[in-house]
Amino acid sequence: MDFENDNLETLVPRKSGDSSSPAKVWVVASGKGGVGKTFVSSSLGITLSKLGHSVVVVDLDLSGANIHTTLGVNPSHMNIRHFFEGVKTLQEIVIPTQFANLSYVQGFWDSWTPIDFNSVQIANLIPEMKSLRADYVIVDLGAGALEPHLDLFKSADEKFLVTSPEPTSIEKTYRFIEAYVCHSLKQNATPDAYGQMISTLRSHRQRTLAKPFSFRSYLKEQEGFQYDFFETMSSNPVRLIVNSARSQTNMDLGHSIKSVCNKYYDLGLDYVAGIEFDNAVWQSVKGREHVLVAQPFTALAGQFLATCKQLIDPEELRAVV
Ligand SMILES: Nc1ncnc2c1ncn2[C@@H]1O[C@H](COP(=O)(O)OP(=O)(O)OP(=O)(O)O)[C@@H](O)[C@H]1O
Ligand SMILES: [Mg+2]
Repeated sequence: MDFENDNLETLVPRKSGDSSSPAKVWVVASGKGGVGKTFVSSSLGITLSKLGHSVVVVDLDLSGANIHTTLGVNPSHMNIRHFFEGVKTLQEIVIPTQFANLSYVQGFWDSWTPIDFNSVQIANLIPEMKSLRADYVIVDLGAGALEPHLDLFKSADEKFLVTSPEPTSIEKTYRFIEAYVCHSLKQNATPDAYGQMISTLRSHRQRTLAKPFSFRSYLKEQEGFQYDFFETMSSNPVRLIVNSARSQTNMDLGHSIKSVCNKYYDLGLDYVAGIEFDNAVWQSVKGREHVLVAQPFTALAGQFLATCKQLIDPEELRAVV
């Protein structure tokens, strides 16, 4: 499917709700690569669009964009590079798809001329995303806890952290959460208090690898942190998704991660979804038809529907179309 030669303005869906309210930004991140961020981003986008909302999926994985592949469209010449280089506004590079209500921003894919984004570019990007003509903007981030990733994650209306059930992924999920906690504390602490915390964290890690560092006990005794960080985190929690679960034990991992985060980080993490492993996922990518379109009535589709319904304002819930 190729929309490059059409008049994009007429094809891109409009906001369905109050046109003056900003789009809600949902960011999908992970500690480890290859755990299903792109699949989750495209699935949330398709599900929200089926619920009658207008959605833009933004591919911000600068090391390997492939939202277009999961949506079954050809990569567009117009991509996020045009925004970062100041050639186009974000709205101008929104490209329609074959799905009603769903459009996307092509990620950067000419990797022979790499591009990177910094915190200033992210600060410019956030208001542009919020002013897109859509109800929801879903951002597919690259893997890892890079500073710009954390900036974007922090400012999101909903923050999804995807992990697979494998130990390597779970380990990197904890690293991502710790990096996120530290990143947020840094912006709300005196340099001395923050420096002291990092050095305590380091020496703790060298001494006892097995036991997580308890931010809660540490912060209780420290001065120099300026606001109730943990209360803020609980009001806008990280939403954990365990993807590619092959058993009930895999599904239950989300509850264990949640309780570790509660106990040690005092972080109000929400285990929002366990998504099962289904061979149809990668088979449908090969067939260039998204699995939620090819097989709309499976357990997998139900898991995404339940997730979106939990997070949408009840007044905005509509029947599935
Ligand atoms: N629930 C699932 N069941 C079966 N296969 C899945 C599932 N989720 C993802 N996959 C497959 O796993 C692979 C990795 O998924 P995906 O590309 O979404 O991961 P990613 O986190 O975006 O990777 P990257 O970090 O490289 O961007 C793909 O082949 C995808 O089709
Ligand atoms: Mg990806």
